[in-house]
Amino acid sequence: MDVTRARAWQTLTTYTKAESLLRHALAVEASTRFYARLFGEDEEFWGCAALLHDFDYELHPTLDKHPQDGAPLLREEGYPEELIETVLSHAEHLELPRDTLLKKTLFACDELSGFIHACGLVRPTGLEGLEPKSVRKKLKQPSFAAGVHRDEVYAGAELLGLELDEHIANVVAALRPLAAELGLPTGN
Ligand SMILES: [Fe+2]
Ligand SMILES: [Fe+2]
Repeated sequence: MDVTRARAWQTLTTYTKAESLLRHALAVEASTRFYARLFGEDEEFWGCAALLHDFDYELHPTLDKHPQDGAPLLREEGYPEELIETVLSHAEHLELPRDTLLKKTLFACDELSGFIHACGLVRPTGLEGLEPKSVRKKLKQPSFAAGVHRDEVYAGAELLGLELDEHIANVVAALRPLAAELGLPTGN
């Protein structure tokens, strides 16, 4: 099959109806696409893997099933193993090797996209003017966006060989054009 954005979106929306999950998928897609452009990689393929990484979460909301029980569904639809392996590798509990740049990038973008999304939601101007310094400060407040695993945010930047501030700035830049779709104030 041809892995296209339209196909991936169709798969995602077949299994996922919750707006919050769709927004998470869009945010991780935008961040992963940003890095695909930066690294000169296949933006469409990277974006599809990111869009689908939590596609089965509504169906399998627990870690004894997500994302491992989603893999056969993707296989049935004809997605290539490279994409399926990438989707599986985002899950810490599966302890799979992150042995491609795409796997590293997806892991690095997953939690941080959610966190920056949360930062934007509590600011009147959304992501406009959001500096890495204030994101870092919020990372140190355990009660803020408590569901985001801080250790995975730090590990992700390290995996990409980036300073945390640079990684934060990249993800903010990636999400900014999506502000309206993510339900963020657009500052105007
Ligand atoms: Fe997940
Ligand atoms: Fe995710």
